[in-house]
Amino acid sequence: TAPGTTVPFTPSAPLTHATPNSSGSVEFPPGFLWGTATAAYQVEGAGHEDGRQDSVWDVFCRIPGAVHHGDDGMVACDHYHRYREDVALMKSLNLDTYRFSTSWARVVPDGRTVNRKGLDFYSRLVDELLTADIMPWLTLYHWDLPQALEDLGGWPARDTASRFADYAAVMADALGDRVPVWTTLNEPWCSAFLGYTSGSHAPGKKSPELGLAAAHHLMLGHGLAVEALRDRVPQASLGITLNFTVSDPVDPTNPADVDAARRDDGMFNRIFLDPILRGAYPQDLLVDVAHLGLAELIRPGDLEIISTPIDVLGVNYYNGGAVAATPEPRGDAPLATAGPDGARDQDAGSPLWVTRSPNPVPEGIHPHARGLPTTDMGWEVQPEGLTRLLLRLQEDYTGPRGSAMFVTENGAAYPDVVEQDGTVDDQDRLEFLDAHLRALKDAIDAGADVRGYFAWSLMDNFEWALGYSKRFGLTRVDYETQERTVKSSGRWYADVARDNVVPA
Ligand code: NOJ
Repeated sequence: TAPGTTVPFTPSAPLTHATPNSSGSVEFPPGFLWGTATAAYQVEGAGHEDGRQDSVWDVFCRIPGAVHHGDDGMVACDHYHRYREDVALMKSLNLDTYRFSTSWARVVPDGRTVNRKGLDFYSRLVDELLTADIMPWLTLYHWDLPQALEDLGGWPARDTASRFADYAAVMADALGDRVPVWTTLNEPWCSAFLGYTSGSHAPGKKSPELGLAAAHHLMLGHGLAVEALRDRVPQASLGITLNFTVSDPVDPTNPADVDAARRDDGMFNRIFLDPILRGAYPQDLLVDVAHLGLAELIRPGDLEIISTPIDVLGVNYYNGGAVAATPEPRGDAPLATAGPDGARDQDAGSPLWVTRSPNPVPEGIHPHARGLPTTDMGWEVQPEGLTRLLLRLQEDYTGPRGSAMFVTENGAAYPDVVEQDGTVDDQDRLEFLDAHLRALKDAIDAGADVRGYFAWSLMDNFEWALGYSKRFGLTRVDYETQERTVKSSGRWYADVARDNVVPA
């Protein structure tokens, strides 16, 4: 294989000083896009309607104990039937754009035969959005692989990448005339390492080798899909959404901690960034995983396909984390240091974490709590990490390639309290969004080319292995009645979107 990239990992210090945008009202650049995001399996329901067949998540949800409370996505927010009402809701929130995903298992249920009725749903949804003057932003893959393809080996099998490109072509032929922005994959890190290494997500496999093989083939599928889309919809903007962490060494003067942060950053961020935006795996990562068979999977030409130019990098940011070479000392320190998408669960800091970690090479990487406030996911609230992340991406990755960035997800779960009159006054979520938008503006002012922001999520929905127990919505969903109630954060966000200003 070709030599890897050597983009340096240079730890940066958390920004603790008051930044220019930390108070007062903050205006965004003209034309900045405001949106919300959802994903098919999390909101649609209609699990077996109109020809949809099982995805890996349907099957995973049936495994006793896999998903909190035995929840599943069979009904979810019933968005499949209520999409008109939901588009009206978006309109009432003054949104410019809506980021949604299409369900591969609805469109190509058996992995090869196109289901016209499945396509028709997305055609209706896109038309409804366009009529409301809301720009459709389509994600092709948000974790719901058709089970038929998992049965043939899933993402660790190379052929799945080609099947994904076929599906991309089907979607482009059906919707290419109406959808201006296309994202191939959402958070392939989760699909690969939560799905095939820690087993905490579908399909629940637990192998470092399978996780790495899945990561490589997801990226190959991304590149092949970009090629297929570029051919069919040359006028569209194409890209991928990655989830990021900001890895800080617990003790920046301790070389072992700095090395733990380097490896964490490599397995989380650079493993996708470097192949996609620089055409090679990071050299240090190739050394770290040398025993896990990744190099043997890479065929000549793969990295050229994977690094096919994209127009947009989608940035999902929830929080970063501090890591050390040694476990957190037990004592008064809180045990839970969770990471993006629950990657680090309640066992953080304990030896168990090593075995349950999604990192294929977890030895000697230990998350430490920093005493920051946390959300209902246990994730640290760390808005300044977003500023540092965006500036780093601009400098090392997107800037040199001329790709624009969008924050395609940011948001928080909190245990909402419903008042007597049915309202939810979620000041905690509102403050979370306020702080992150200010941090985003700091990054824009310092030179990051970020053109829009999507709050996660439009409404409460199925939070994967945590079922319906975690609520991320700007809108509350009553799962008994399917009633939607805009929360205080949603009203606040509607004003931000209308004025292009975060108020003082
Ligand atoms: C990122 C994922 O894309 C989304 O599906 C999930 O619900 C949120 N993170 C919150 O965990």
